[in-house]
Amino acid sequence: MTVTASAASRAAEILSRPVELNGLTVPNRIAMAPMTRMFSPGGVPGEDVRSYYARRAAAGVGLIVTEGTYVGHDSAGQSDRVPRFHGEEQLAGWAKVAEAVHEAGGTIVPQLWHIGMVRKQGEPPFADAPAVGPSGIRVDGTEGAGKAMTRRDLDDVIGAFAEAAAAAERIGFDGVELHGAHGYLLDQFLWAGTNRRTDAYGGDAVARVTFAAEIVAAVREAVSPDFPVIFRYSQWKQEAYDARLAETPEELDAILAPLTAAGVDAFHASTRRYWLPEFEGSDLNLAGWTKKLTGKPTITVGSVGLDGDFIRGFMGEGAPVRGIDNLLDRLERDEFDMVAVGRALLQDPEWASKVLGDRFTELTPYDAAALKTLH
Ligand SMILES: Cc1cc2nc3c(=O)[nH]c(=O)nc-3n(C[C@H](O)[C@H](O)[C@H](O)COP(=O)(O)O)c2cc1C
Repeated sequence: MTVTASAASRAAEILSRPVELNGLTVPNRIAMAPMTRMFSPGGVPGEDVRSYYARRAAAGVGLIVTEGTYVGHDSAGQSDRVPRFHGEEQLAGWAKVAEAVHEAGGTIVPQLWHIGMVRKQGEPPFADAPAVGPSGIRVDGTEGAGKAMTRRDLDDVIGAFAEAAAAAERIGFDGVELHGAHGYLLDQFLWAGTNRRTDAYGGDAVARVTFAAEIVAAVREAVSPDFPVIFRYSQWKQEAYDARLAETPEELDAILAPLTAAGVDAFHASTRRYWLPEFEGSDLNLAGWTKKLTGKPTITVGSVGLDGDFIRGFMGEGAPVRGIDNLLDRLERDEFDMVAVGRALLQDPEWASKVLGDRFTELTPYDAAALKTLH
């Protein structure tokens, strides 16, 4: 079986172009999507986590977005194996991760995370912290499952994000990504299903975005003007795949405009399948709409390189919908600027170098067993 030379070189050519994110030059268009791995006992990323990320940077990933890492608020998370972005030992571990990625030629941003009402039974050291959210409602609709955030809680969490961002710059990261997606705290404010507040943080879309925008503004203030701030968001939620923040481009604009005004430098529009149009009447996906509405650099994501179809697409066995051409066409049309790869890169640390180096026949198909190891 031979690889189609034209598809191969076209992929290498388009994906190898550098891209600018607020002054940061990312060497190519491939990002590693943030993926929680829970290999950091005590919240400290160790040697195995360091080499896991460095291996991927060395193999051509231009931008690593780390797994979600908890900001410094007792209610931010529930697992003691998820890395934390506060505390001396934890930050020292992260500093070594950033250093190793830089030595390997990559760039790296931590994904700053607060899980909000997703929190259930917590592990020590924060076992007794309550679940907090805009209205104490879980994404599945359960009411009274936690605490509606007070003014003080809001200020504490805003401060925790700002402190984590300042720490990221201090210890050598290239920027930060704020986790505003998938039904976690920031998204719980954005979505009417979980936000029933009647104060300035609830109501219409513009009011619901206030909390996230205040976090962006506080983060912006805490870091240098040229330190990139990326905002990840999604329509879908972990416990509600069909949920939507916006039914129309106008509704989406109402959410994105305040975030942009608050200082977001780039958006990461999380979808489960990148090739699906977001709104009727246009082929643009969510990242495409995000870039069109905000003018900001945008990252797409969702099932890139996940199945045999993608590999066969390179091998000249027809042109499946999920083949690389659809992705490359969209990149060439400037619909978005970067592509994040999750599971395929979790499976195969050399995914990027294989794609950039025309070694498509060597791509390893995704197998969920890869979740059990950190290699
Ligand atoms: C094991 C695993 C952990 C994930 N953890 C996170 C996370 O911490 N933060 C986040 O924003 N998305 C997370 N995601 C979603 C991915 O970033 C990505 O959006 C999703 O897997 C779709 O991309 P893919 O089809 O290339 O895997 C996770 C996905 C997986 C498979």
